[in-house]
Parts: sequence; C-alpha cells; structure tokens
Amino acid sequence: MILIIDFGSQYNQLIARRVREFHVYCQIELPGISAEEVKALKPEGIILSGGPASIYEKNSPKADRGIFDLGIPVLGICYGMQFMVAALGGTVQRVGKREYGFAELEIKKSEGFFEGVKKKSSCWMSHGDSITKLPAGFKTTASTANTKFAAAAYARKKLFGVQYHPEVVHTQMGKKMLRNFLYNVCGCKRSWTMKSFAKQSIENIREQVGDKKAILGLSGGVDSSVAAVLIHNSIGKKLTCIFVDNGLLRKNEAEKLKITLKRHLHLNIRFVNARTQFLKALAGVTDPEKKRKIIGRIFIQVFEAQARKIREVDFLAQGTLYPDVIESVSVFGGPTSVIKSHHNVGGLPKKMKLKLIEPLKYLFKDEVRLLGKELGLPEDLIWRQPFPGPGLAIRIIGEITPRRLNILRNVDDLLLEEIKNAGYYKKLWQSFGVLLPIKSVGVMGDQRTYENIVAIRAVTSKDAMTADWARLPHKFLGQISNRIINEVKGVNRVVYDISSKPPSTIEWE
Ligand code: XMP
Repeated sequence: MILIIDFGSQYNQLIARRVREFHVYCQIELPGISAEEVKALKPEGIILSGGPASIYEKNSPKADRGIFDLGIPVLGICYGMQFMVAALGGTVQRVGKREYGFAELEIKKSEGFFEGVKKKSSCWMSHGDSITKLPAGFKTTASTANTKFAAAAYARKKLFGVQYHPEVVHTQMGKKMLRNFLYNVCGCKRSWTMKSFAKQSIENIREQVGDKKAILGLSGGVDSSVAAVLIHNSIGKKLTCIFVDNGLLRKNEAEKLKITLKRHLHLNIRFVNARTQFLKALAGVTDPEKKRKIIGRIFIQVFEAQARKIREVDFLAQGTLYPDVIESVSVFGGPTSVIKSHHNVGGLPKKMKLKLIEPLKYLFKDEVRLLGKELGLPEDLIWRQPFPGPGLAIRIIGEITPRRLNILRNVDDLLLEEIKNAGYYKKLWQSFGVLLPIKSVGVMGDQRTYENIVAIRAVTSKDAMTADWARLPHKFLGQISNRIINEVKGVNRVVYDISSKPPSTIEWE
C-alpha cells in the first residue's frame, strides 16, 4: 500500500489514479496523521502531494516530521518536496519569478528513481517557492534552466523529492519515474486488481456484519447496484435493498431493475411504490430548489418507514465513491456555495443511528465499473449514464403532472434508443430530454397545433464538474427531432442545448 499525504493539490486524485494504474493500492490521508498512525498502516511508500500553500505561511499544512524516520521510502512532489526539505534542515524561499508550465529536465544519472529515463525530457512545473539549500545527505539528481534542485534524493534513506509534477501527462517520463518509485524503490507488487479487491471486501464485510442485518438504498445506478451485489455476495439475504419508486423514473425502469437484480442476481429487494406520495407533494410546485427539497424529504420518510419494518438492522450500506470522500476531507475544502441541493440515496440522515458500510469508498467510477464486471453485473447496468436522484422532476421545467411525465418518458425512451443504436451511449456522459414550460405553434397535416417543446441535452464530461455539449452530427439530430415530433404525442418542436458547464449546469434545474 502507498500512502498519499494530501497537502491540497489539485492533482491528488491523479496521483492516486497513477498509483492504481500500476496495480498498487493507495490511500489518501490528511497531513494531520501522526507518524505512529502511518506506521500502523504499514505502507510500502509515502507520497507527499503538492499543494497551493507556501511552506513558510503560518497556516500551511504540515505533516509529522517523524514519518522521515520510519525507514519507509518517501517521494515529495512540489510542495511535498519543499516540506521535506524544510523539515530536514534545508531552505525554501520565494526567489525570482514563479515557474509554471513546461521546462526541460536534465537528469544526472539514469538509475534508481530515474532508471530508463532519458537524459533530457520535458517536465511540468507549477511553483512559486524554490529550494535554495538541500538538507544534509541530499544530492541534486536533476535540474532545469530555472530550478537547480528540480529533483533531489537522499538515496541511502530512500527519500526523494521532485519539484515538477510526475503525475501529469505533460511530464514526458513521469509515469516511468512513478513506476520506478513504486516497484524499484518501494518494492511494491502488482496486487491491486478488482478480483483481489472483491475477494478482500467480501471477507471484510462478512467480518464486520457478523450475524447482523444491513439495508441499502438502491437507486438503479451503477454505484448502488455494484455495492448491493458486492455486499449480497458477502452476507446474502442479511442484506435488504430498498428501491423507492418515486414516480419520477424513466420508462419501465423499476421493471427492468427487477429482472436484472432480483431475478438474475437474486438480490433481496423491497420495491416500494411511493409514486402517489411524491406526486401529491410535488403538485403545483415549480421552483427547482423546492422540488429537490420535497423529494429529498419524502425519500427519507419512505426509506425510514421501510427500514423500521425490517427489525434489528445495524448497518446502512452506501455506494459512496472515492471522489466524494476526497472532496469532503480535502485540506482546503471549505464550504462551497450551494448551487443545487443534491439528493441521492447516499444522503440518509445520521439520526438513523446505523453503522455505515461503504465498500466502494476507495474506488473511482471506472474502477467501480470494473468491479461490476468482475461481479457479473450486466453491461447495460455497468455502463448506465448517471441519472439524478430527483429523476424526471428536474427535467420537467415547471409543474410536474402525470401527463407531462408521460410525454418526457416517451421522449427519453426514444432518444436513448437512437443514441444507443448510433453507438453514442458510452461516449456521452449523459443524454436526455427536457420538457419546457412553454408551448409553440406548429402545423401537422394542414392542421394548426399548439404543443410542447422539448430540449435535447447531450454532454461529454469526465466527472460532471465540467461538461461540454456534444457535437452530434446535424443529420443525426434531425433524425431524433423527426422521430420525437412524429411519435410522441404532445410535442411539436425540438431544440438542442448548446451550453457548456460552466457557466450552465448539466441538468436544467
Ligand atoms: P449539474 O446539473 O449540477 O449536475 O451540472 C452534475 C451531475 O450530477 C447529477 N445530479 C444529481 N445526482 N442527485 C444525484 O444523485 C441529485 O440531486 C442530482 N442533481 C444533479 C447530474 O445528472 C449530473 O450528472
């Protein structure tokens, strides 16, 4: 295992990704972790991440300097290197101009950390402070025109520092260096695979739960489905999944899920029909935040009522992913402004007093998909595009009525069929229809129509934080529009949303 100490770098997740790509497990911890706690985790190596602070600022994050005496190899990156240097008696200063972007890296010798690395290659720099004196025992191992100590090492103690970022693709030989650190310096083995992860998790969950019971809120999305199957494989029928049909789902969604998860994968699922409850509470509501709050509140009511029926439950299982965990613990992760009150099955209240099982909490989305594959989940479930907790309610602008839900369901069904047939489904982050609250005039078979407008939204994205509208071919868009207007009763106009995020968001509400 590799321990990454998070000094607040924007590239933290990238470091973790890189380590895992080499089939080595890694975990991110905050700088507050003590040397004793580090020792107890038994990492084979420690990576100190970069960060936006300056080492001499009063509140800059600091790790326990005792970690350098544990005999565990350390790689300090950017701020991480500066922290190591300052902690061990060197000096770091703000000198000259800050260095940002590409620089030519010249290494002294192609060995150890630099084994197989070219004498000259480009690297990616992003720092304001520079090291002006190395601590005793350290030697310079690479330089750039601007930075004398671009890399340094205390080889005998296995302490390494790089001022540039080996984890970003712009550092030409970065992967090779990280690989050298993991395999040659730390002696890590390629043991992190989804097969080994699944096996280990199944054992851990069995041990944690014992003869007790667990519940899980199943949404039908990838994360909660994979978590459910993993836990089911571990504790079988002691896990009860609760699927709440809020009446805001896509066409035949609950039925499809019944077939895959209940009939094929034998999960113990309670399907709760709470459609009337949700739709009644949403009647006449048009404000997006009000809709979201109502849906969140009723979901919790329904879920709690169901959970009470299953007696003596001790555990609540959730499909929380690593990016959610990292974001909520990040050193500089202060409260951000509320843009939308997100609702999902993960947000169940603390007052339920249940212990948590979060088996995916160290995985990234694509790792969850691999795990799903390993566990035998069907392809169409694994590759599902994300669907928001509040469902179609936030895709129907204005009032939600059974008729309007029906129109959007038919649009959505047809759109996804076209997107899948044309081979775009996996390439797009999301693709869906939005029902607008205005009508427009049209002409059909010599008759005047006055009907609804539908907007098509299709975006590409890596993580939903930013997104771009998909440049779908005009001909294809024309075909979709044609089919919707001809086949979905109540729609006479289709428009295509060409806004990116930011400044827009993916969903309309
Ligand atoms: P926005 O609209 O904020 O959406 O750009 C970003 C991503 O989050 C999804 N989304 C939600 N997911 N509960 C969820 O589980 C929610 O309340 C919710 N609102 C938006 C959205 O579909 C997109 O993938």
